[in-house]
Amino acid sequence: MIALVTGASSGLGAAAARRLAREPGAHLVLVARRRDRLDELAGELGGATVIAADLLEEATPALVAQRVTDEHGRLDLLVNNAGVGGRGSFAEGGWAEVRRVMAINFDAQVRLTEALLPLLRRSAPSGVVNIGSVAGRVSRPRVGSYAASKFALAGWTEAVAMEERRHGVHVGLVQPGFVATEGFPQRELRARPWTRWMLSTEDKVAETILDVWRNRRPEAYVPKPYGLVPVARVLLPGLYRRAVGGGAFTATPKP
Ligand SMILES: NC(=O)c1ccc[n+]([C@@H]2O[C@H](COP(=O)([O-])OP(=O)(O)OC[C@H]3O[C@@H](n4cnc5c(N)ncnc54)[C@H](OP(=O)(O)O)[C@@H]3O)[C@@H](O)[C@H]2O)c1
Repeated sequence: MIALVTGASSGLGAAAARRLAREPGAHLVLVARRRDRLDELAGELGGATVIAADLLEEATPALVAQRVTDEHGRLDLLVNNAGVGGRGSFAEGGWAEVRRVMAINFDAQVRLTEALLPLLRRSAPSGVVNIGSVAGRVSRPRVGSYAASKFALAGWTEAVAMEERRHGVHVGLVQPGFVATEGFPQRELRARPWTRWMLSTEDKVAETILDVWRNRRPEAYVPKPYGLVPVARVLLPGLYRRAVGGGAFTATPKP
């Protein structure tokens, strides 16, 4: 089983690679920019294919597809995990910040999938697991660029999943809530004893990635009850906006 994980140099990607490597006959292909981190993980796993590359570079998807085809001739699982958080309000970051986040959280996933889809089809039954977020179903102040990228990923994933079913390529979505990682330190949630329960773990996300792929699930939240948040958003939109929007929704406009 050949599994490629992007963003394998830290956080959820590294945990997913460790978990997938425990599957019988598994060989991992690790993709991220920091080669030293990937080499270290490959050593820990007893060997892996390391591709140190920037997913924002024009040439990267084709280079990755060529390496995997030349070295393995097949691909059973693609985990599109690499991503970044967004910064600030729209008035602060504007279109530039939206483009920055969309480029890695959405465009890069689409481009890599496009480059690897022929190989995935030839390797069917195979799969793609995209790492979304609960923020891909509900938004809140100061996460607009991030939510936009994850909403886009969710919509695109659903369409491609239906298109690829007949080709034997399962396309699923994992929607984590909050996990403390390098890129998402979750300082505020960790600081307060009464919010710490909201944090999940890298290992639970890794287990869910395996579950979505192996059991061909369309979508899974981590932890599972977070799946109720989008339901609450649809059923009680006013309450949802007041709960997460704070003053933004109650401020009286200036004349
Ligand atoms: N942690 C959470 O609470 C949480 C919740 C929901 C969803 N997620 C999603 O989970 C995924 C992983 O996040 P994480 O928490 O594990 O964060 P993380 O520890 O910061 O990991 C992000 C990974 O993405 C890679 N990456 C970033 N830009 C890249 C680029 N241009 N080219 C190649 N690789 C790139 C990084 O590697 P290099 O820097 O070495 O390139 C790193 O391995 C993201 O898609 C994130 O949106 C996280």
